Amino acid sequence: MTISLNWRVLSFGLLLTGSAALSPAAVAKPPVAAVVQSAPASRRPGHAAVASANFLATRAGLEVLRQGGNAFDAAVAVASMLSVVEPESSGIGGGFMAVLHRAKDGRNVFIDARETAPAAVDAKDYVNPDGSPNRDTALSGPLSAGIPGEPAGLVLIAQRYGRLALQQSLAPAIRLARAGFKPDPRLHGAIAEEQKVLQRWPASAAKYLRNGQAPAPGAIWRDPEQARTLERLAQHGDDGFYHGGTAQKLVDAVRAAGGNWTLADLAGYQAKERTPVSVDYRGYKIITAPPPSSGGVAIAEILNILSGYDLAAMDQVQRVHYIVEAMRRAFRDHNAYLGDPDFVKMPLAMLLSPYYADGLRQSILPDRATPSSMLPRAEPADAGMHTTHFSIIDADGNMAAVTLTVNTILGSKFVAAGTGVLLNNEMDDFALVPNKPNVYGLLGSKANAPVGGKRMLSSMSPSIVIGPERTMVIGSPGGSTIITQVLEGILHFIDGENAQQIVAHKRFHHQYLPDVVMVEPGTFDAATSAALEQMGYTLKQREPWGFMNVVTWDRKTNQLDAASDPRRPSGLGQVQ
Ligand code: DON
Repeated sequence: MTISLNWRVLSFGLLLTGSAALSPAAVAKPPVAAVVQSAPASRRPGHAAVASANFLATRAGLEVLRQGGNAFDAAVAVASMLSVVEPESSGIGGGFMAVLHRAKDGRNVFIDARETAPAAVDAKDYVNPDGSPNRDTALSGPLSAGIPGEPAGLVLIAQRYGRLALQQSLAPAIRLARAGFKPDPRLHGAIAEEQKVLQRWPASAAKYLRNGQAPAPGAIWRDPEQARTLERLAQHGDDGFYHGGTAQKLVDAVRAAGGNWTLADLAGYQAKERTPVSVDYRGYKIITAPPPSSGGVAIAEILNILSGYDLAAMDQVQRVHYIVEAMRRAFRDHNAYLGDPDFVKMPLAMLLSPYYADGLRQSILPDRATPSSMLPRAEPADAGMHTTHFSIIDADGNMAAVTLTVNTILGSKFVAAGTGVLLNNEMDDFALVPNKPNVYGLLGSKANAPVGGKRMLSSMSPSIVIGPERTMVIGSPGGSTIITQVLEGILHFIDGENAQQIVAHKRFHHQYLPDVVMVEPGTFDAATSAALEQMGYTLKQREPWGFMNVVTWDRKTNQLDAASDPRRPSGLGQVQ
């Protein structure tokens, strides 16, 4: 280690305390991040586009748009259809986060339909008698499930932002759940993979298995119980899910299987509107997810660090070096500070401040990786592959970026009898056991400890990017890699790439710990890999990750483009 590196790392510790804010060099720079609202996009596209992870869901969105619905009605249609056709990733037993842009007044709003912990949450339930973490209760069955947020979030979007009645937007999903559809290979694979866990609960086995096995590929799948539950939601709004018969069935099923939900937990659930995080980067405004997501804060922090470099003038090795160093520093903060804003105080002003970013930038050496062990605080993370994102722009320029999740594949695998509702296993996104990682390797801090009524921290980063001439709606699943996927998508968009190029682009990821650069096969050629290793990076090849769905709008030519990640064939981006 050189003396120079030690000095810089030492000074980095000081910079964290805020002294960077006082440095004259830092003060000279204009602020680039704040929580603000954007101006309306300049004109209407005149046509619409939807990109989602499943062609049936994309078509449901387009159908509702043809009926006179706007992007927000279409979002309700796509989300509810995904609950039927892509239950391994999201559903009405889970939650979502969305960034909406309303064209008529330029309003940007974040919809927080994240799950909450039940009031009776007890950390002891997630620890074995020998003190080791109980990964089964954290990930499977009713104790792993938070109080669902998706139904309330859909009602909120329909009532406050939609043009159509909720019944009309939910109709395609209800219709298809009754008529039946052929599960795609991904759903089939998910059921086959989780067969054993599904067999533990009769209602789960009844819904997903035939004679204890995954249904034969190509077999028609019907979901009449979920159709009834969606219908009650359509007719009665929140009351149709969080009160009355459905609520009673959910609570009875959860408690009979060892869970601790009460009717009061359901009755008390509220989807919330929050102010998005907004960051300006090279003339583009990025409108993204605030806590209880860590995504937007991390993306803003990375962009603020990168705003001090001329990435376009650099070769790939240098560019990757600075991007990875910015990722490293943002991820260091991400688990340490963030949690549910209704429960914890967070230093958001510091994390979003350009002066803080200036300090972090000072600690980056031009020619060497900074080992994560040289940076104070340690919070590791890893990626998963089940969750889903869709993007919509309608003819008027309304936009919806929506990321939905039941957490890991098929969530808790627990279906609440009589409802057709597959519950999430989002409780694992809390730091359930101090200093023990969750399924993504995230350790978390007190800020993300489980408390009744609290929302667990998320990496979901639905985002809208508004540039001088072009606009993009973007997001992806992928656990902690969501953040770096969206970041790289933003950088590629600013470089002028179109929707197809952005979703197809090879990815790399660094999350502070483990101190490795995760790389998709084919991202770097041999010379680039060798140069990065020479600088001190450990590269680790991983299977491709993410399922990005992007819509772009060129406001000069009025062209819309919609693209779904080529890594997964079931998706569809379509313009109409
Ligand atoms: O909210 C979160 O950050 C996680 N529950 C998301 C999980 C995810 O993206 C899994 N994979 N693709």
